[in-house]
Amino acid sequence: MQKIKNSYMKITVVGAGNVGATCADVIAHKELANEVVLVDIKENFAEGKALDIWQTAPVNMYDTRIKGSTNDYSKTAGSEVVVITSGLPRKPGMSRDDLISTNAGIVKSVTENILKYSPDAIIIVVSNPLDVMTYCAYLAAKKDSRKVFGMAGVLDTARYRAFLAEALDCSPKDIQAVLMGGHGDTMVPLPRYTTVGGIPVTELIAEDKLNAIIDRTKKGGGEIVNLLGTSAWYAPGAAAAQMVEAIVRDQKRIFPVCALLNGEYGLNNIYMGVPVKLGKNGIEEIIELKLNADEMQLVKESAVAVKEVMEVLDNMKMF
Ligand code: NAI
Ligand code: 2OP
Repeated sequence: MQKIKNSYMKITVVGAGNVGATCADVIAHKELANEVVLVDIKENFAEGKALDIWQTAPVNMYDTRIKGSTNDYSKTAGSEVVVITSGLPRKPGMSRDDLISTNAGIVKSVTENILKYSPDAIIIVVSNPLDVMTYCAYLAAKKDSRKVFGMAGVLDTARYRAFLAEALDCSPKDIQAVLMGGHGDTMVPLPRYTTVGGIPVTELIAEDKLNAIIDRTKKGGGEIVNLLGTSAWYAPGAAAAQMVEAIVRDQKRIFPVCALLNGEYGLNNIYMGVPVKLGKNGIEEIIELKLNADEMQLVKESAVAVKEVMEVLDNMKMF
């Protein structure tokens, strides 16, 4: 893969916990930047994680520098892309929505601190509940929504594609899929837009098996929480790093991304997962699929669920 030339690329990841450290590790490993800054509020935590990751560089043969900082945002100055993973993860029995009050305060203050030193940064939110935390970052950032968006769909489609690859005994590389809606049980995987090496998935798998995979995908986050006692990090960290890659390499990838809708799909003033084109300017296009009535109904139901959590944020009167 080609490294960006003639410009110093700096990327910040806020939150040096499971997802943030994994994301920073993947970014460094792929040499997406000259410098990655890891920030955490916990004393010395980001410094320790950064040092450990940096010590993999001679083994993994990359030269991206990784630095850690305990809440000193001056170290993040000039970042082109910032990934926000700070916040509490979901514990068993806890819904994503239970997280809202704590994580909204964290996401708001982190966004403000980031923009003090990197006013032009593109912000990717990962903290949960994802759709509403992304909306929270947008309200705090007061900037173009094409530069403030969230990661969920890349992870959720990765889960869907992994489950399909397993069921079909084929390479996950050959499975392409679109998934829409909020990052929760109402997400909408779209079989009509799922292909395996260009073949519609519906030609390769029985309807009941496909429905079981869709159901498992919707509950994919919870499945890991039940197994591990905390939420996933390898796939979320890699998914966020893939979005960073699309931006810094101006790849114009088509990914499901949590984006602000202003009329698209008949929805307004809501952050939710939709297919977008991602490049150096952030979201360069929101793609409007021609959904059938059943698909549109599911997307609308998902929007209602997201709006309910947005109301919790509105009632907090933080903005
Ligand atoms: P974690 O607990 O391992 O890491 C979170 C880190 O944030 C901790 O190190 C904590 O000290 C730090 N932090 C808390 N407040 C902070 C602040 N004000 N400034 C800087 N750092 C602060 O949690 P994990 O597993 O990394 O998850 C992080 C978030 O990502 C959670 O909200 C989780 O629910 C969410 N998540 C979202 C996914 C998605 O698809 N969007 C997937 C997986 C997790
Ligand atoms: C996940 O989907 C909990 O949002 C987190 O793994």
